[in-house]
Amino acid sequence: MTEDLTRARADALAAAAAAPDLDALKAVEAEVLGKRGPLARAKAGLGALPAAERPAAGRAVNEAMVDVQAAVEARRAELAAGARHLQLAAERLDLTEALGRPRRGHAHLVTQATERLEDTFIGLGFQIAEGPEVETDWHNFEALNMPPSHPARSEWDTLWVDHGRPGSTLLRTHTSPVQIRVMQEQPPPIYAIMPGRVFRRDTADATHMPVFHQIEGLVVDRGITFTDLAGTIEAFTKAFFGADFSSRLRPSYFPFTEPSAEFDIRRPDGTWLELGGCGMVHPNVLQAVGLDPEEWSGFAFGFGIDRMAKERHGVADLRDMFVNDVRFIEQF
Ligand code: FA5
Repeated sequence: MTEDLTRARADALAAAAAAPDLDALKAVEAEVLGKRGPLARAKAGLGALPAAERPAAGRAVNEAMVDVQAAVEARRAELAAGARHLQLAAERLDLTEALGRPRRGHAHLVTQATERLEDTFIGLGFQIAEGPEVETDWHNFEALNMPPSHPARSEWDTLWVDHGRPGSTLLRTHTSPVQIRVMQEQPPPIYAIMPGRVFRRDTADATHMPVFHQIEGLVVDRGITFTDLAGTIEAFTKAFFGADFSSRLRPSYFPFTEPSAEFDIRRPDGTWLELGGCGMVHPNVLQAVGLDPEEWSGFAFGFGIDRMAKERHGVADLRDMFVNDVRFIEQF
């Protein structure tokens, strides 16, 4: 009995100490301390011993079990510390290095894309305009030919702001209200782009964010036709993406343009990507800002900057661009 117990204890201690990882240790624990293990068997055998030997033998079995349990716990702590150490080493960010030798950072991907877009359109003769992120319902919807009950309003999942008359103030759902502000502020001819942040009650996924960025374009002049719109989109596509890209317009619907289209670009590999909407400014929109649709005509477009940045840099998921993990950001 004593010899068996001594061997079982020594084997169990050696097995615990040698377990290479936490899973292996769990298996060792189940084997040596389990109901069918050598120590449990020794305990079960106590009854067969002469009464005089039983107390000492019982104590020896209990001590062996306590020792083995302690060895298992000690090994577990050791392995857990090792795993944590490995994880820390793998995720290590040396901030002192950054403090010691200042490294130049760079603009966020969306800022880089916005600046390139601005440069491209300035090269095509456009000016840059801006509008507020907190907008009136009138600018965001009504002046854009969407009166209060217009069904197209439901296309834009709106975040309302508790300010003024209920339903009068919102976080702009697109950059199109800036068209209205530009037309109110300056007489035509207008050749303007309007980049900015917009907000929708969209759930974040690989291609959607509740806060994202658009760039709006607006041209109002005499004798502007759909051909001017198509030509501008094509010139922009080649200037921004490269000569091996081209564009197409697909019929679509927006209340503030007539006719309306979706604007797609064709990649060099022949695949298509939808970038945004466009169309000829609706006569009701021109009238809302006091322009005579018989005298003036124009076109407008609006597309998503975040998706363009995602496309340009081959980012798989939009959300990656906004979690601010330096290991991701440093790549660009
Ligand atoms: C509009 O917002 C219109 N204002 C565009 C427009 C302007 C049409 C001028 C005609 C004239 P839309 O809801 O389709 O349209 O959004 C335009 C683009 O924004 C989309 O093509 C997409 O690139 C981007 N976008 C839309 N929702 C999201 C989102 N949740 N996250 C990221 N990008 C988005």
